[in-house]
Amino acid sequence: MKNTVLTLRKQKEENDKITMLTCYDYSMARLMDDAGVNVLLIGDSLGMVMLGYEDTLSVTMEDMIHHTAAVARGAKNAFVLADMPFLSYQTSVYDAIVNAGRLVKEGRANGVKLEGGAAVCEQIKAIVDAQIPVCAHLGLTPQSVNAFGGFKVQGRGDEASKRIIEDAKRVEDAGSSMLVLEGIPAELATKVTETVSIPTIGIGAGAGCDGQVLVYQDMLGMFSDFVPKFVRRFGEVGDVMKNAFKDYIDAVKDGSFPAEEHTYS
Ligand code: KIV
Repeated sequence: MKNTVLTLRKQKEENDKITMLTCYDYSMARLMDDAGVNVLLIGDSLGMVMLGYEDTLSVTMEDMIHHTAAVARGAKNAFVLADMPFLSYQTSVYDAIVNAGRLVKEGRANGVKLEGGAAVCEQIKAIVDAQIPVCAHLGLTPQSVNAFGGFKVQGRGDEASKRIIEDAKRVEDAGSSMLVLEGIPAELATKVTETVSIPTIGIGAGAGCDGQVLVYQDMLGMFSDFVPKFVRRFGEVGDVMKNAFKDYIDAVKDGSFPAEEHTYS
């Protein structure tokens, strides 16, 4: 069954946890969709895990559309959620609508995600008025890495936690259908989840959210430049791949590949 904003909201109401994973290409989308993942997020984390940048700031609309379209072609049932890259929506309401629209028209996304609270509510409202579902993103929002002075846990202390709760209410009022909570204390994430009626999806935000998201290279052990505390490895796929590459090198060098069965007569 196709996952939609309605089915995801129903999952929150029925206490059925929502599963989201990042995804950046067609073959991975096929695998995740077949496995039954609810939401495939084309995160701007692709700048780091796919393109090798040190943060997400250099990711362009062209990058996002290219990868979103590939994922959308592989996603039969999963909801396809595309990140709006840095400065594709902060600059004006007009830019926000045009760029969200491109992710839907050219990338075939089912919805878009953007970072920020009260400061981007006008943009959220305008995108929602254009009939595009929005997922907001609060807490450790990676596009603010320079303002935060690094990838640091947010929402600690009374002032900071109150601001996140207030921002969560504001993005819900602006029309967001979903809310990602990243890098905040578990207690605060639980409070936000109880406060808003839209589904919350946590990453480094504890078990009290309505769902969870991970970067797939992290959960498969394929990316070791930096492994955050909140990551659980559900497979050592990086090792499996490295061993397969070594076996391939050996087989080519010793002449056992290609064999008779791989050869045209
Ligand atoms: O870009 C991304 O992958 C994200 C998730 C970590 C939530 O925003």
